[in-house]
Amino acid sequence: MRSLNEQEVDRNPFVQFQHWFDEAVRVETIEPNAMVLATSSPGGLPSARMVLLKGFDELGFLFFTNAESRKAEELHRNPHAALLFYWGELSRQVRIEGEVEAASRDESEEYFSTRPLESRIGAWASKQSSVIPGREYLEERVTRIKQQFPGNDVPLPPFWGGFRVKPAAFEFWQGRENRLHDRLRYSRQGEGWVLERLSP
Ligand SMILES: Cc1cc2nc3c(=O)[nH]c(=O)nc-3n(C[C@H](O)[C@H](O)[C@H](O)COP(=O)(O)O)c2cc1C
Repeated sequence: MRSLNEQEVDRNPFVQFQHWFDEAVRVETIEPNAMVLATSSPGGLPSARMVLLKGFDELGFLFFTNAESRKAEELHRNPHAALLFYWGELSRQVRIEGEVEAASRDESEEYFSTRPLESRIGAWASKQSSVIPGREYLEERVTRIKQQFPGNDVPLPPFWGGFRVKPAAFEFWQGRENRLHDRLRYSRQGEGWVLERLSP
């Protein structure tokens, strides 16, 4: 049975996250980098969806999306988000909360160029989150985009890019028997982190 305790965890939550992420990669078969991204409207109405984590370091947790999507609109107007990872085979979840900033154009270009051709075309074809008349509409757009960019040279769309969630808090949750789970929270304080245990 796994456990989580103050003596064993790293005092730096990014390092602790790396340990857990590496373990999730080793154990999990399906997308260990999938995370729930929760945003909210300026009025405080929440919304959530999955995105893929594409990198993390002390600057934050990076994902990419359509910059005119619902999530992006919400982030532009209220640049705060929560992330949630769930690694069921390990009985673990990690919650992250913080401010959000847009990634640089260069960074988005660098990542976009690594995507397979079909998904780069898909990014151009999809006005993410908008209502469309039917599936055919999307397929017609794909055909048009392929004509517009013949070959492999499909550049980063101007309406596409990355966002970085800069953690102000992390919570590592380890499921234990009898609902006596371990919960350790790191809250940013100045340059350092305060570590506290929460009741399950
Ligand atoms: C496992 C998984 C990973 C996903 N990864 C992304 C992603 O990295 N970027 C993205 O824009 N949408 C991703 N999606 C789709 C989103 O969940 C969502 O449908 C889409 O971004 C539109 O959200 P919005 O209308 O709230 O902006 C993913 C969905 C799943 C199920």
